[in-house]
Amino acid sequence: MNIDIITIQPELLKSPFEHSIMKRAQEKNLLSVEVHHLRKWAVNEYGQVDDYQYGGGAGMVMMCEPLSKAIEELSASRKFDEIIYLTPDGKTLNQKIANMLSLKNNLLLLCGHYKGIDERIRQKYVTREISIGDYVLSGGELAAAVLVDAIGRLLPGVLGDETSALTDSFQDNLLAPPVYTRPEEWEGLKVPDILMGGNHKKIDEWRYEQSLQRTRERRPDLLDSIE
Ligand code: ADE
Repeated sequence: MNIDIITIQPELLKSPFEHSIMKRAQEKNLLSVEVHHLRKWAVNEYGQVDDYQYGGGAGMVMMCEPLSKAIEELSASRKFDEIIYLTPDGKTLNQKIANMLSLKNNLLLLCGHYKGIDERIRQKYVTREISIGDYVLSGGELAAAVLVDAIGRLLPGVLGDETSALTDSFQDNLLAPPVYTRPEEWEGLKVPDILMGGNHKKIDEWRYEQSLQRTRERRPDLLDSIE
């Protein structure tokens, strides 16, 4: 999968993809992330990409022309399946959306700043608008990093153990069960006996029960969507 990202803060997007699972995904050529600096398509020699908003009010708006030129130029070399704008007024990201996007080949992500991007770019190019939660970030970059991570780890072959993404929280609308590692007893707290017994059928049943209980307590809304 190729993911292109247009931003005015490319430095913010360096580190998230240079470590751990995202690094491995790229090394295995399962994922390619290319970050493009919007200033390359600035309207003048001062690197201008934003301007005051019509109607007045505080905050700059990212202009149509640089964004349009960037999108057109990148689209000439790749046919994007989706052009996604990260914005707090988008649809809230969830596992279902991440699963669906992980099946695409080419994604283009647009990161907004200040007051956001000119509405006409949204109308003309954007196919999907995604928020990572009901709070406002300083820009779309950290949201883009979250989205790439959520998608990238789902690509076949990225996680060592092929099944491990399937047992994540949310994959079946249930939260994950508790997990333990050595030592067997720590500060008087013991690992549940069932996990030490080696009976995998019983362990699976216990984990499922724990998942259900945890979901009931913490996210009962998720259970409403299980048939
Ligand atoms: N840009 C600013 N805040 C955001 C959010 N919550 N989600 C996605 N993009 C954003």
